[in-house]
Amino acid sequence: MNSQKQKPHIIVAEPGPDRYARGWHCLGLASEYTDKPKTLDYFGTRLVAYRGEDGEVHILDGYCPHMGANLSDGCVEGNAIRCPFHFWRWQPDGICDDIPYAKRIPQKAVIKHWPTIEENNLLFIWNDPEGNEPIPEQRVPHIADSFSDDWSGYHMIKMTVNSHPRELMDNMADVAHFSYVHSRGAGGATEFSNEAEGHCYTQRMRSGMGKGMGNVSRATYHGPSIMETHMWGCNSEDPSIKINEQRLLVTHTPIDQNSFDLRFGVLIKKDPAMTEGLSRMWVESQAQMSHGAFNQDVEIWNRKVQVDNPILCDGDGPVNMLRKWFQNFYLDVDQLPANYHEKRVHVVDL
Ligand code: FES
Ligand SMILES: [Fe+2]
Repeated sequence: MNSQKQKPHIIVAEPGPDRYARGWHCLGLASEYTDKPKTLDYFGTRLVAYRGEDGEVHILDGYCPHMGANLSDGCVEGNAIRCPFHFWRWQPDGICDDIPYAKRIPQKAVIKHWPTIEENNLLFIWNDPEGNEPIPEQRVPHIADSFSDDWSGYHMIKMTVNSHPRELMDNMADVAHFSYVHSRGAGGATEFSNEAEGHCYTQRMRSGMGKGMGNVSRATYHGPSIMETHMWGCNSEDPSIKINEQRLLVTHTPIDQNSFDLRFGVLIKKDPAMTEGLSRMWVESQAQMSHGAFNQDVEIWNRKVQVDNPILCDGDGPVNMLRKWFQNFYLDVDQLPANYHEKRVHVVDL
């Protein structure tokens, strides 16, 4: 029992570093990006995205540095975008190469360009406060199942959460919430571990094993904002048979320091025994169930506050290890700890 003399705990919540995490961030389905310029508000600024005639999506800072017009109101010309106000033309590398009424182009006429990549039919943008090019080892992983006819294709939803992404990150270590948020006290994990190594952080979990049906999941963050989960149900007598196999994708892209766009995608493994119509209905219902379970977390994230000094108990997962790993993406590369690439594993004693 707690001592009555113990003073009440005061929650500490300091603002984090005034920067955004180094890494790839998801911008939704690649098919949504065409030669019609699109406005994006991310990383505390305005951006413009458009697909050039080279087929690539190019992203530049969204306001023209000449006199401030919104470049999304301009038009795409080859691989460049022309400003709607005085017709300056900006190439994908951010250099202005044409001013229709000027004899010389000012040397300063350069705007920031943002690296992009398409993977798994999704578009990603690279953010690095130091302005460096993408780190090859941090490349977005290829998910072959997202291209397979045996799987459903992503069912994605997007929502804005009024919080900092670090609040959602805690979820990776939070073994206790499964019982209470997702299964109403009906029992949670029976095995649970976290593993940090370089830019990856993995949660492994088994639940319900030994009671007939069990669940297995492996969720990995690849960098600060892309989490891929592979999960399935199994008969505990023969765990090699996978039932209701799914892959989940959770991504968060900061709008500013207090809000981010959260995307949640579900890939469902089809059951070859089902007719096409039945399979479609089944996939739809499974995706809805997954979205519903995810929304249970979102409701909490939307209403919680930041706690830098949480009171943790022995049944909690390695929240501090996780937070330390996540902070790495807010440091300059030469500030990364010496053990950044070493594997650290924490198994929760359940
Ligand atoms: S504001 Fe863009 S060309 Fe003048
Ligand atoms: Fe959850």
